Amino acid sequence: MNILLLENIHSTAKEKLEEQGFKVDLLTYSPAPEELSSLLAKYQAVGIRSKTKLTKDILDKNKHLLAVGCFCIGTNQVDLEAAKVNGTAVFNAPHSNTRSVAELVIAEMVALSRQLGDRNSMAHEGKWLKSAVGANEIRGKNLGIIGYGHIGSQVSVLAESFGLNVLFYDVTKKLSLGNAKSVSTLKELLSISDFVTLHVPETPETKDMITSEELSQMKKGSYLINASRGSVVVIADLVAALKSEHIKGCAVDVFPKEPASNEEMFTSPLQGLKNVILTPHIGGSTEEAQVAIAEEVSDSLDKFLKVGSSAGAVNFPIVDIGKHGSAKRIVNVHENKPGVLGEINSIISAAGANIDAQFLATDDKIGYLVIDVHADHVDGLSQSIVKLDSNIITRVV
Ligand code: NAI
Repeated sequence: MNILLLENIHSTAKEKLEEQGFKVDLLTYSPAPEELSSLLAKYQAVGIRSKTKLTKDILDKNKHLLAVGCFCIGTNQVDLEAAKVNGTAVFNAPHSNTRSVAELVIAEMVALSRQLGDRNSMAHEGKWLKSAVGANEIRGKNLGIIGYGHIGSQVSVLAESFGLNVLFYDVTKKLSLGNAKSVSTLKELLSISDFVTLHVPETPETKDMITSEELSQMKKGSYLINASRGSVVVIADLVAALKSEHIKGCAVDVFPKEPASNEEMFTSPLQGLKNVILTPHIGGSTEEAQVAIAEEVSDSLDKFLKVGSSAGAVNFPIVDIGKHGSAKRIVNVHENKPGVLGEINSIISAAGANIDAQFLATDDKIGYLVIDVHADHVDGLSQSIVKLDSNIITRVV
């Protein structure tokens, strides 16, 4: 099978896929729509990052595509619905940069506590401010984590090794790691934390989660860190809390409006304020995370293309399966309408074939069916299944 990797995806991806027997071409750039559309004709799968837009038009002209690998976190550059109804599974790597974000948060706690950003700028300007006033160790302080998921729980583990007392608030019940303690309300967490760090997803519930009300519930002289999503904090309210010195400093990596490229200017009402660390959404941007993303997405593509497992797909019903034994496997994507499974099983039974194993997952539009049968029957059966009206893609793996 041929795979096209675009946008200079980390070479680890090419190496890993080639090790698995795929023929891989790697381009350094993101082709313009027309070039992309015709390029894809030769490939069964494509790997992209955030620049390549896989629109409905491009996907509809390339209905043969089995899979798209987004070698990044976001998938909004792909029309997921159009891909799905064409039988094209889309994968990403949502958690490969977890550790990178967690490390940045720990560094920021120390930096805020020692006013590193301001002292560094002053030293560069030739100003010598040697003073211990307002500088503290983070050891023994309370860290409040909002959202105890992949990143929040990593921060928890790292923070304990620095001697912080970790508290967390999450809307779903989470197992505490180490000595971390769950608190039942956001207000309670805010009122006892010296540092508050946000690790929630962007949802209607988390939009404007931190306003002047929540900031006023935080301890006087505490710090806020946001490396989650820009929509979670009302920036004007944070600016007011910093100016009144109720909040002693903050580190912000994500903003309600971020420049679309490195060429665009960045402006924020937080610029120029004391003890405010601003970073350009680099929480997950490390070389290690790039390698981890390359490994995770290549692995998902490999398992989908060669084994039929759709685990990790963002637009497909999930069938999470391992390799099959001596049997052969038919993988079928079909329109989800009444009677399809019955039709397919009738074909199998009419051929006198025995089903070794069968896995089906569906959503409102498609069904994803994996059938293990004896090798003698596999080609004939798949040719009959392809002829069904409901068939979108059928292949043998
Ligand atoms: P996750 O899905 O593993 O964890 C999120 C946690 O937040 C879950 O435990 C969930 O139950 C909880 N949660 C959801 N709504 C909540 C609410 N209203 N109140 C309290 N808890 C709530 O997500 P992960 O991977 O830990 O990512 C967290 C955030 O970090 C996301 O917003 C993600 O976009 C962002 N992120 C930022 C990066 C950066 O470069 N700065 C890089 C990677 C992720």
